[in-house]
Amino acid sequence: MATQITTGTSELRELTKIERIGAHSHIRGLGLDERLEPRANSQGMVGQAKARKAAGLILKMVQEGKIAGRAILMAGPPSTGKTAIAMGMAQSLGSDVPFTMIGASEVFSLSMSKTEALTQALQRSIGVRIKEESEIIEGEVVELQIDRSLTGATKTGKLTIKTTDMETIYDLGNKMIDALAKEKVLAGDVIVIDKASGKITKLGRSFARSRDYDAMGADTKFVQCPDGEIQKRREVVHTVSLHEIDVINSRTQGFLALFAGDTGEIKSELRDQINTKVGEWREEGKAEIIPGVLFIDEVHMLDIECFSFLNRALENELSPIVIMASNRGMARIRGTKFRSPHGLPVDLLDRALIISTKPYEQQDVEQIIQIRCQEEDVTLTPAALAVLTTMALETTLRYALNLISTANILARRRGVPAVDTEDLRRCYLYFLDEKRSVQWLKEQQGSLVFDEINAEEDGGTRMDVS
Ligand SMILES: Nc1ncnc2c1ncn2[C@@H]1O[C@H](COP(=O)(O)OP(=O)(O)OP(=O)(O)O)[C@@H](O)[C@H]1O
Ligand SMILES: [Mg+2]
Repeated sequence: MATQITTGTSELRELTKIERIGAHSHIRGLGLDERLEPRANSQGMVGQAKARKAAGLILKMVQEGKIAGRAILMAGPPSTGKTAIAMGMAQSLGSDVPFTMIGASEVFSLSMSKTEALTQALQRSIGVRIKEESEIIEGEVVELQIDRSLTGATKTGKLTIKTTDMETIYDLGNKMIDALAKEKVLAGDVIVIDKASGKITKLGRSFARSRDYDAMGADTKFVQCPDGEIQKRREVVHTVSLHEIDVINSRTQGFLALFAGDTGEIKSELRDQINTKVGEWREEGKAEIIPGVLFIDEVHMLDIECFSFLNRALENELSPIVIMASNRGMARIRGTKFRSPHGLPVDLLDRALIISTKPYEQQDVEQIIQIRCQEEDVTLTPAALAVLTTMALETTLRYALNLISTANILARRRGVPAVDTEDLRRCYLYFLDEKRSVQWLKEQQGSLVFDEINAEEDGGTRMDVS
């Protein structure tokens, strides 16, 4: 039996995204020009020209929407901008193309199997652009009459609406009256009512009524009274991901699961039904598939089962572009005894195009620090900038970036507007970087709880990942 497959877009459109100042909030794109050449310092991006250009090429490929199922690996030492470049790609893709970002360890969840988690991530990265004809009522409100019963429990009403060619009276139910009241619809407003969802949109006030009131806000928009029929069919286009269609149609969860994030496993038979339905829509010209991007950060944390699942999934017709990032050198493949470059099995590496990122030069580091200072609204004296740049080169870029906000607190405590070398020096003493922390651990040997495991057993070049 074929279930009714819905897309639930009217609810989804209400979803808004919240932004905060985070480690990558200064990144607003890849900073490439029209010829895909990287600009020296643009959209928050500095240096790393080759990798950015490569990312730009891939972006072009995604935007053209023709190629699916490719794997890309970004490999390079820590804090060389792998995650930053992925964020830049996400920003440049446009709102229509889905971009999903997961950390590989998210796959190991208690509520679902590894392969289900990966499938959901893949489904999130495939967009379906759906053309729907919806029936609307559009016109200028002539009169809105509402009668309340004595108790106020029931309301009845009549809405008279017109276009330049006709006029009609509609009976109103409780729900519609509430919706009209919420939108503060008055006679003289030009409105659109979506018949399926009952959603009311106010387009503005009719020109004919522009002289009725003196006291009108400056933001009042005047529009022409529409012409033609009051009831019309209109084509609307919206994009949802396959995962959203899956969740909305899984009876046990309902669309609220999208907000709670607690989607559980989705039955494979439901997925099959949806894929068939989407296939039908495609043939009828009602829907279009948009392969997006799935970014798997710290990909060496996946295990051998996930890797072989990915190998197969990449060959699927409905597959997004999968970008992976890893900072490991030769490392053990999780779940096996074998070592392999980047901790990835060679058959997956063979399918992947590899982009490498390199440590930054002094000039780039200085510019990244300046960009971060602007983002965090911190002023550095020229001497402090020079010191922080040297620190970044001797410790790590991340350590230096982390000192910006802490040093700023010290500077504010001193009552000065700009961070100086003195604040940085104090922060440097308060907070250890990686090298000094290792050194400190060596000095403290024995006094801390637990001792090291036999180094021979460690499969990774940086740390044990299993
Ligand atoms: N080219 C760049 N332009 C501007 N900011 C950058 C650039 N590269 C890195 N950054 C910033 O430096 C910090 C560290 O970079 P990022 O987190 O991308 O490193 P990574 O390669 O993902 O490291 P890891 O392997 O440890 O995950 C971030 O705050 C990032 O936004
Ligand atoms: Mg990273």
